[in-house]
Amino acid sequence: MTTRSVLVTCHRWVGLTFGVLLFLQGLTGASIAFRDELNRVIHHGSMVVEPRDAYLPVQALIETVLRAHPELYVERIEYPPHPDEALVFRMETKGAANQRYVAVDPYRGNIKRDAPTSQWPMHWVFGLHQELLAGDTGETIIGVMGVALLFLAITAPFVWWPGRRNLKRGFTVSVSAGKYRGLRDLHRVGGILVVLLLLIWGSTGPVIVWKSEIQSVLARSVSIVFRPAPKVAERADVALLPLDEIIAAGRQRYGDARIKNVRFPGGHGRVVAIFFETLSTSRPRASDQIWLNGYTAAPLGVYEARSLPAGNVLLDLMLPIHSGEVFGIVGRVLFLMGALCLSGIALTGVWQWLERRRLQALPPMREPVNRTNLIDVVVARAWEETRSVRALELRAADGGELPPFEAGAHVDVYLPNSIIRQYSIWSDPSDRTRYRVAVLKLPDSRGGSVAAHTLQSGARIKIAPPRNTFALVEHAPEALLIAGGIGITPMIAMASRLATLRQPFTMHYCARRKEDAAFVPQLQALVPKEKLSLHFSDDPHPGRFHARAVLAAAPAGAHIYVCGPGRLIESVLAAGRELGWSEDRLHSELFKATPVDTDAQAFDLHLIRSGRVVHVLAQQTALDVLVAHGVGIPSSCAQGICGTCVTRVLDGVPDHRDRYLTPAEHDSGTVFTPCCSRARTPVLVLDL
Ligand code: FES
Repeated sequence: MTTRSVLVTCHRWVGLTFGVLLFLQGLTGASIAFRDELNRVIHHGSMVVEPRDAYLPVQALIETVLRAHPELYVERIEYPPHPDEALVFRMETKGAANQRYVAVDPYRGNIKRDAPTSQWPMHWVFGLHQELLAGDTGETIIGVMGVALLFLAITAPFVWWPGRRNLKRGFTVSVSAGKYRGLRDLHRVGGILVVLLLLIWGSTGPVIVWKSEIQSVLARSVSIVFRPAPKVAERADVALLPLDEIIAAGRQRYGDARIKNVRFPGGHGRVVAIFFETLSTSRPRASDQIWLNGYTAAPLGVYEARSLPAGNVLLDLMLPIHSGEVFGIVGRVLFLMGALCLSGIALTGVWQWLERRRLQALPPMREPVNRTNLIDVVVARAWEETRSVRALELRAADGGELPPFEAGAHVDVYLPNSIIRQYSIWSDPSDRTRYRVAVLKLPDSRGGSVAAHTLQSGARIKIAPPRNTFALVEHAPEALLIAGGIGITPMIAMASRLATLRQPFTMHYCARRKEDAAFVPQLQALVPKEKLSLHFSDDPHPGRFHARAVLAAAPAGAHIYVCGPGRLIESVLAAGRELGWSEDRLHSELFKATPVDTDAQAFDLHLIRSGRVVHVLAQQTALDVLVAHGVGIPSSCAQGICGTCVTRVLDGVPDHRDRYLTPAEHDSGTVFTPCCSRARTPVLVLDL
């Protein structure tokens, strides 16, 4: 297992474990990016008030809310940033089991809105984001999730990295490549685009949640002041001062600075903490704090933003960094979009995993037809047709008839050395007692032709039922049969069939030397003399075959059938196209490894079962790349004829170049032959 695959696996499982929570955090984070503004919009009727010259005494306002809820105490008072907004009292019972917000018009003293926190949407969402509405336990879960997010952000570039040469692909979303690939791309591209934000959230979130614990650790290396809440003993003989007097005492130090909030640690009022908006630093959310004795208004502690040591500044910066406030309005908008993106990443990650599971659970692909219904045959006769061509006559081992076949059809022959090869049947299609095939011994044989040349009369082998990928249009005005070398075999069957049908046809047979041309006597017996042209490179009469001249002289509506070496086929097809022949009149069969398409595009193969992605270069075949990566795929012809390598496609669009699959199978896009076919989309997801 490589380091990368370990990282991918860890990334996947950490992501899946926290996927739902990350989705939630993204949504809630996005919602609270503009919490105050949204709050004002949502509760416009109850939060916006008509301003007057001054607030009523705050003590009177406190008494109003306490009268409404004698069972609760005031935990803090939130002062609004604008003069036309209500003061919000946060009230709760001991242990904060019951919490509510009460909005009061500070100029008139009337309660504008009074509801549990769950009915204040923005506060509820904030609680969900910060502690999952579950107090300390929820806060711990959020902290752990923050660490997980940090891990995901750190591993993301390793998982995403597409390689230096494929950087562009790393930022491409292949929507047309199917659902699985689309999800995967969205996840990867989205993740890498916001990876910096994820790093920020993953590192600041846990610090915010575990602030006091981290503060203790930080204090060992950075200067830091602790702000323990001062305590004031209860005095039965003395009453607490009115809050306005305590606030006035605070103002002696900070003048007219705007109060952000007033807090009552413990809820009894013996200690009052006033947070003033500071002008001594431009740090967002920075405040000057003064803690006062509720009985005497004497200062108990002062913490001023400008004089805080580096450790405190660092910790106090965590929240504005986490929310994007530190980067101003642009930062908040950016963080809002990033938070939505986080939800999207979580969603696509989990969805992608589910989709992958679904694809993996699909039943195995059907067996390709050439591996079933095999026929036992016996080699009834074997003879050397030329020095390099051996002819074989195959008959059913049980002596019965063989399946019918059409002119142009071939059979898959299972050779004794376990190699499967495809050979055209050259015998008369009306004769079902035998199939005759011929094998050219290739100098660069991969074992097939050599094995076929060892077959002797009496040998028993298996063959698959014939398949036809080179069908004859039987009632065309005329057929031009053009063969080169061993490509003559399907032409003999076609000539037999056309002769049986009394359909007009002409045959051109090309070979290097006269003695290399197989089946000439059979052709001369089958094709009228004036309709047969033999072209040998070593014989000037009738000379070389000129495709353009032959096609130009063909009658209107004629169909061409060409089989043989690639160069011959290309020249005939090119001539036909130049002369404006429609494609349905051009038929060809190449019984030789397909040359690499130099215009081919590179693409990726995503192997769903192993999760691996392998890259197929323009000059490689998918089969070669799979084999090079140790993926076992049975193969035989390596030219899209036998179907041995047929592989299921789960996603993406194949570019079919085989002759084995049916048009319906091509159209379905669910299977392809990796030995020769390619991809129309940047990625094919395979059932491997
Ligand atoms: S190996 Fe024969 S079709 Fe691919």
